[in-house]
Amino acid sequence: MAQTPTTVTITGAGGQIGYALLFRIAAGDMLGPDRPVRLRLLEIPQGVRAAEGAALELQDAAFPLLRDVEVTESADVAFHGCNIALLVGARPRGPGMERSDLLAANAVIFGPQGAAIAGHAAADVRVVAVGNPANTNALIARAAAPDVPSHRFSALTRLDHNRALGQLSAALDRSVDGIRNVTIWGNHSATQFPDVAHATVDGAPVFDALAARLGGPDAAARWLDETFIPRVAKRGAEIIAVRGSSSVASAANATIDHVRDWVRGRPADRGWTSAALVSRGEYGVPEGLVSSFPVTSDGTGYRIVEGLDLDARAARLVEASVAELIAERDAVRELGIL
Ligand code: NAD
Ligand code: LMR
Repeated sequence: MAQTPTTVTITGAGGQIGYALLFRIAAGDMLGPDRPVRLRLLEIPQGVRAAEGAALELQDAAFPLLRDVEVTESADVAFHGCNIALLVGARPRGPGMERSDLLAANAVIFGPQGAAIAGHAAADVRVVAVGNPANTNALIARAAAPDVPSHRFSALTRLDHNRALGQLSAALDRSVDGIRNVTIWGNHSATQFPDVAHATVDGAPVFDALAARLGGPDAAARWLDETFIPRVAKRGAEIIAVRGSSSVASAANATIDHVRDWVRGRPADRGWTSAALVSRGEYGVPEGLVSSFPVTSDGTGYRIVEGLDLDARAARLVEASVAELIAERDAVRELGIL
């Protein structure tokens, strides 16, 4: 029997990440080779021509899975029947800006989009905020959709997770394929905590492998503190400094990974990954905040891996990033948006 197409809505589809996403989604990289898709591209007037151009190219690519493409400036139209909402459209930061500088500029976008999701999306909708500040934008969208279950909202920290895998792979000279159970905790910002305390490489603790390669446990601990954590946490700024604009293809790739694992499930032998989800109080993160956690997925939804031991230092690092999420939430409340 022919599959019913999945409706994927991409906001900011005329932008850089949108362009990097559309063709991979249409090719089946996100939902699989058996799932036809309908694409709904939401833009503002300045971005509509770029989205229309992408729609023409999608037609020219003749993707067998692509049922139709619609470009619109109406959130109500864009989210009508939406199963997967990729909230990308936002103002990106430039050199010298922190992601928090974008709070006010982007907060006004995500409330109305959350309301449109509540009003028009399918009951099984799954939402991921990519536009920054991603965690707080997800919080705002979710607050505007109180009748949509909170587990249907998420924010992207898979890029940070993948960055951590890339750094470990280079330091250990091992394939990312053998690395398991890295965690990104907290905010998609410089305060995030990339944690390898439970991580393994080819079945052995990552810490031991680092110690063997770098000259002992002290050298491994120093590398983690002085190189790994800041490099991963500030990688977005590094990319901006080198490219002159923020990450695009890696961000689109992480978005595809995030949705694919969420919808299709993640084999148990791959271990956990990281996603920012609405907290129900796990690991002491205040309820309602959208914070990054270790997660697994059986395809019905992401589940937070509970019961991991955090030593005092790790707990402090998680707390510091969560404090930033609280401050962002409070700043948005002061703007009258929440
Ligand atoms: P871009 O400027 O190329 O594209 C953004 C697009 O969004 C533009 O086409 C713009 O017209 C559109 N847009 C703006 N307001 C909109 C609205 N209200 N509704 C619909 N569309 C709207 O930017 P980009 O490089 O594609 O980045 C998009 C966002 O993703 C930025 O906020 C960036 O910081 C963020 N980002 C997040 C991650 C992450 O890991 N979470 C990684 C990279 C980039
Ligand atoms: C990234 O991590 O690359 C994005 O969040 C863009 C940014 O502003 O850092």
